[in-house]
Amino acid sequence: MTNSSLKNRKRVAKSLRDSRILLGVTGSVAAYKAIELIKGLKEQGASVRVVMTDASKNFVTPLSLQLASGEKVYGDLFGEPMSHISLPKDADIMVIAPATASIAAKAANGMADDLLSACLLSFRGRVVIAPAMNWRMYESPAFQRNLKRLIEDGAALVPPDKGLLACGEEGVGRMAAIGKIIEAIKSAVSPKDLLGEKILVTAGPTREYIDPVRFISNASTGKMGYAIARAAKRRGAEVTLISGPSAIEPPAGVGFIPVVTAIQMRDAVLGHLPGATVIVMAAAVGDFAPEAMGKRKLDKAAVSSIKLKKTPDILSELGAMKKRPLLIGFAAEFGEGRRGDGLKRARRKLIEKGADIIVFNDVSRKDSGFGADTNKVVMLLKGRGNDLPLMSKDEVAEAVLEEIHALRAKRKRF
Ligand code: CTP
Repeated sequence: MTNSSLKNRKRVAKSLRDSRILLGVTGSVAAYKAIELIKGLKEQGASVRVVMTDASKNFVTPLSLQLASGEKVYGDLFGEPMSHISLPKDADIMVIAPATASIAAKAANGMADDLLSACLLSFRGRVVIAPAMNWRMYESPAFQRNLKRLIEDGAALVPPDKGLLACGEEGVGRMAAIGKIIEAIKSAVSPKDLLGEKILVTAGPTREYIDPVRFISNASTGKMGYAIARAAKRRGAEVTLISGPSAIEPPAGVGFIPVVTAIQMRDAVLGHLPGATVIVMAAAVGDFAPEAMGKRKLDKAAVSSIKLKKTPDILSELGAMKKRPLLIGFAAEFGEGRRGDGLKRARRKLIEKGADIIVFNDVSRKDSGFGADTNKVVMLLKGRGNDLPLMSKDEVAEAVLEEIHALRAKRKRF
């Protein structure tokens, strides 16, 4: 695939939802993992068609992949005439997972002697390639040369992980985790409409220590903030993620600053402020800290009360600045009606904290807020609100970035 062929792409899907993926499965032990990959892609709304090489059938059966994809599985160059043209024509993206040294050699040199290599040659879109092989083969000059050429031609590489290989040796060559491959596919189908933006995202809880082993914190897991950082990176932004303690792996390609307390988070935000065009405060910053921290573990019999002081309000501090980036805050509140007056409180925060957007997040529901994979939010902007249905946190992240993109475009115009 050449750069000019990249420009000639017929259609670019905006997200995995409704994307048509042509998945090539080749003869590596990791071929059975294609089942999990197909399921993961389908869960996110993509449709998947599979082309298998003959060698891959030693490791996974066509029937398993047919059942996972819900579609006929292809493999014979002459079985269905012109399928090497029609299958790629109907796809938004091609993914080779696992990719052997052999398919890389064919693709890098324009060979087309089986259905998959012929599809790769006729495809006019983005290719994502996830190699899997023994570390000696992976490091070989011939494979690295072919890989380099594929990347120069526009393919996106999902580098293999280091670990125990099928041959019993340790080394780089295990196919990347399915989550990483899906993230690379999402990135490949994503519009790069945030290119040039420098986005700071805060995420997770903060902790305020009472003594070396006890602290005050909250139930935030960081899922929402990490989803925003990943989505912003996919859309081409330069992203720095400032995170309180979280079990989530920092996204690849994102600057990562771990912090613990509210003061540390504030210092990290202010330290990265120069050049930032957007700040998303998704962190659940603790509002109180003990006035003093015990140097040693406090004896419970000696403690009857703990004096607290207020932590700095980072968003308000940013909102009060004369020249400031676009500011987005989150308000975790109890919903409306009998459950609370959260929306009103969130709208008040939009004004009082001087933000451009406050995302009201209904934490009175089990399927929304801290720890959940979905969120029920209302996006509040000056003079309007956008009530969104219950969505995955990844989808909420995309919706927030849509608004950010629109507001940034407006700012640039005026
Ligand atoms: N926030 C902040 N610094 C704080 C507290 C909150 O920057 N010390 C930010 C959060 O990251 C979030 C927004 O302010 O984007 C709203 O957070 P929330 O906890 O709902 O607001 P509080 O001001 O803490 O209000 P409440 O009295 O409801 O806790």
